[in-house]
Amino acid sequence: MADLWRTGRRNIPGMSTPPNPTASNSEWWRNGVVYQIYPRSFADGNGDGTGDVMGIRARLDHLVQLGIDAIWISPWYPSPLLDGGYDVANYRDIAPRFGSLDDARALIADAHAAGIRIIIDLVPNHTSWDHEWFVAARNAAPGSPERHRYMIRPGRGTNGELPPNNWTAVFGGSAWTRLPDGEWYLHLFDSSQPDLDWTNTEVRQEFVDILRFWIDLGVDGFRVDVAHGLVKDPALPDLAATEGILESALVENHPHWDRDGVHEIIREWRAVLDAEQAARGRDLMMVAEAWVHPASLPKYLRPDEYHQSFNFDFLQCEWDAGLMRAAVDRALAGAEAVGSTATWALSNHDVVRHATRYGLPPETDWRAWLLDGPHEVLDAALGLRRARAAALLLLALPGSTYLYQGEELGLPEVYDLPVDVLDDPVWENSRHTRKGRDGCRVPIPWTVGGSSFGFGTDGAWLPQPARFGSLSVEAQTGDVDSTLELHRRAIALRRSHWVGAGPLEWSSKFSREEEQVLCFRRGEAICIVNFGDEPVAVPAGTVMLTSEPLTADGRLLGPAAAWITAG
Ligand code: GLC
Repeated sequence: MADLWRTGRRNIPGMSTPPNPTASNSEWWRNGVVYQIYPRSFADGNGDGTGDVMGIRARLDHLVQLGIDAIWISPWYPSPLLDGGYDVANYRDIAPRFGSLDDARALIADAHAAGIRIIIDLVPNHTSWDHEWFVAARNAAPGSPERHRYMIRPGRGTNGELPPNNWTAVFGGSAWTRLPDGEWYLHLFDSSQPDLDWTNTEVRQEFVDILRFWIDLGVDGFRVDVAHGLVKDPALPDLAATEGILESALVENHPHWDRDGVHEIIREWRAVLDAEQAARGRDLMMVAEAWVHPASLPKYLRPDEYHQSFNFDFLQCEWDAGLMRAAVDRALAGAEAVGSTATWALSNHDVVRHATRYGLPPETDWRAWLLDGPHEVLDAALGLRRARAAALLLLALPGSTYLYQGEELGLPEVYDLPVDVLDDPVWENSRHTRKGRDGCRVPIPWTVGGSSFGFGTDGAWLPQPARFGSLSVEAQTGDVDSTLELHRRAIALRRSHWVGAGPLEWSSKFSREEEQVLCFRRGEAICIVNFGDEPVAVPAGTVMLTSEPLTADGRLLGPAAAWITAG
């Protein structure tokens, strides 16, 4: 048997102990399953059509049954919600529509009692234009200390009527907006999100204080938004080309992405977390949202920087055995080089849900497809089958897994939302050429019926399609073939069979002879994924779990995955 297995990249040694949020130094994040909650859309506790903290508390039992280790909560701060809460008006409070600081304390206490950690979103690149600092900056004179907290500059042209440079915002349009007195402010995202000036020591101190505020309140970590932003070339040079966010991060010495200066800031935060962890005896971690080239990512994961980072290289991979294997190898090698662990995610609140992406023809530009279609090319059943197989791949790989709410239900993208309900600034800022990210933010169905399928008592802020009822938690619970039960069993088995199972070894037999198959083992546990539609024999051993039933003669008919324990 041994010659079938080739040792892949060394795994980072992991911990096999079940999580205990009160214990320190367990490094739980190296193998954790983290569940992302988008608070507007998870559960509505007060019946106003928007999700809230009370709703999360009331649905905690779902997460306990799922078996996850931690929750990452997208921004819950006071905000005009012009970018779904990533426009923060006050970093030290909870939005009244989501609840109060007392509700947050109660949620943290409930979660900790259930063995679940809480990671919150930190948004340091920009504030909301409603933040008191920006209100003060607008009202202050050019050159004042209030203005120096932001990237505010005079314009070009005879009367300063042209923006300071040609940078474009990620959501479309110019990255500069003019203030009434003629100066311009930078916003890499929406005009309601002015960029902070991270060369300003007051800005730096403020975020250290914000970290301490939430650590004091009881959180266990931070997901850091736009972690590769923050630092800008002081000369603010024009950009040669205006590419997409990930491609532009490939530009060497890019004037606003992935600049060396960000690492100094990260190290400052890490020192705060380490000191607080030592003082409080509670694990603290931070995970980066850094859309950078895979070759650059390990820099963010050095021992005195982020504990881990999202892996957008893997997330964006097509459903293809060879491409996915290469992405897995890249991530393991990158993390290993700096003593971190890889992370795996396929969906989040910014991308088309993968149950839908995987049902589209290869190389479809799924962001454009939402609006431009053609929608008939979507094979939803195929997408779901692949997503179920992908779940077993994801949960067997060394490192930690991030699941996006509803992924455990196999929720598809709601690609057909009518344009008049769209809320994402991308729709307006792109001048109606991109539909944006609302289709993955549609509220979660909890029950088969009801005005919002159990999301709340009085409708939902985005309309849910009729098909959501049959995908609800209620509909799937107890149905052994359901995607929800598949996730529950997989996460339970992961704990006993994959966590701490050791390095990944690819099976040379399957990868060389059958291009459609990926197969690896870690210790005694084997994961085989059949990407194609021809049945393949499964390796010898006891079958623990499959994403689809095996054929009558015991083969795996793709797309499907199976977990086996070598006998
Ligand atoms: C991140 C968030 C995204 C947000 C953007 C600006 O990419 O994930 O939702 O719009 O930052 O804050």
